[in-house]
Amino acid sequence: MPPQYQAAITGLGAYVPEKVLTNFDLEKMVDTTDEWIRTRTGIRERRIAAKGQSASDLGVRAGMEAIQDAGLTPKDIDLIIVATVTPDMAFPSTACYIQTKIGADCGAFDMAAACSGFPYALAVGESFIRSGRYQHILVIGSEVLSGFIDWTDRSTCVLFGDGAGAAVVSRSNHESHGIIATHLGSDGSQADLLQIPAGGSMNPPSEETIRNRMHFLKMQGSEVFKIAVRTMEYAVKEVLKAGHLQLSDIDCLIPHQANMRILQAVTERLELSPEKVFINVERYGNMSSASTIVALYEAVKTGKVKKGSNIILVAFGGGLTWASTLIHW
Ligand code: UT7
Repeated sequence: MPPQYQAAITGLGAYVPEKVLTNFDLEKMVDTTDEWIRTRTGIRERRIAAKGQSASDLGVRAGMEAIQDAGLTPKDIDLIIVATVTPDMAFPSTACYIQTKIGADCGAFDMAAACSGFPYALAVGESFIRSGRYQHILVIGSEVLSGFIDWTDRSTCVLFGDGAGAAVVSRSNHESHGIIATHLGSDGSQADLLQIPAGGSMNPPSEETIRNRMHFLKMQGSEVFKIAVRTMEYAVKEVLKAGHLQLSDIDCLIPHQANMRILQAVTERLELSPEKVFINVERYGNMSSASTIVALYEAVKTGKVKKGSNIILVAFGGGLTWASTLIHW
């Protein structure tokens, strides 16, 4: 058996674009109201990338902060993994753009697991550390969803925002410290519930796909809502089982931030105290793969997650995919 090393998050970074789009701004764009958006989703505002700002630009800002927070330089990074469904281009990968922009000298690739992207990428990074192959991996979730949203569709355009978060995952000498367990799942039979139908090899971009607005994100919201609640509860329980812990051992749940009502329903079903659930959906909306890592960043920086805390990241999204990570901070 090769040696097994422990993996821990040693640095965190986050970046959201400066431009704030409020619910009141959206009232002027589509037939909606601040009241509807707030009561149905909990969202008050979201960030929108500037013209020309791509997923790699956001990822560089978050990634550099995480590298500095870990006390490292880009040359110390052995691998870059970027979770995104809004890459700079179909190829080359957004990770390659980030590698050159930060001046790292290592392998780099993208992963697509939609809103579950960050915990998925973290699981891959953790495995490279555990195997002993690498010492420091930069894991980024970065999205510029604003370029893939149909700004005439009120059922989706009010929900999403742009942002990026990053973590450095490093080899740790403390056996009980770091990533304790991971659970990953998918159900591709439900792919049509949440997707960008055109632009890939199934529906290559054409005048027709553009005319039919197939290059924009489509979601069957109420169906996704119900499955999200059930699945996030399940993913939390599965990762607890894998880590041999009880829910009462958990100090903070960091869920994917899609909708306040989903988070409240998951909290109730788990019979978890609401103070133990970190929520920032009101400020950013759903940033897909950036949501859980930006939430973790804020939970740590505001002291909600402290040294010694047991935390769970849990995410659910298009694919369908879901993922959960149990971490002893
Ligand atoms: O990140 C991956 C996971 N994503 C999610 O988890 C998102 C899951 N889904 C949701 O968050 C919710 O389903 C939504 C917020 C998208 C929608 O909330 P809902 O309570 O499921 O509403 P609904 O889709 O059933 O729509 C209710 C009504 C409809 O009108 P009618 O047909 O009842 O007359 C919609 O047309 O609300 C209408 N509506 C709106 N009204 C004002 C939909 N969007 C809007 C809007 N403003 N922006």
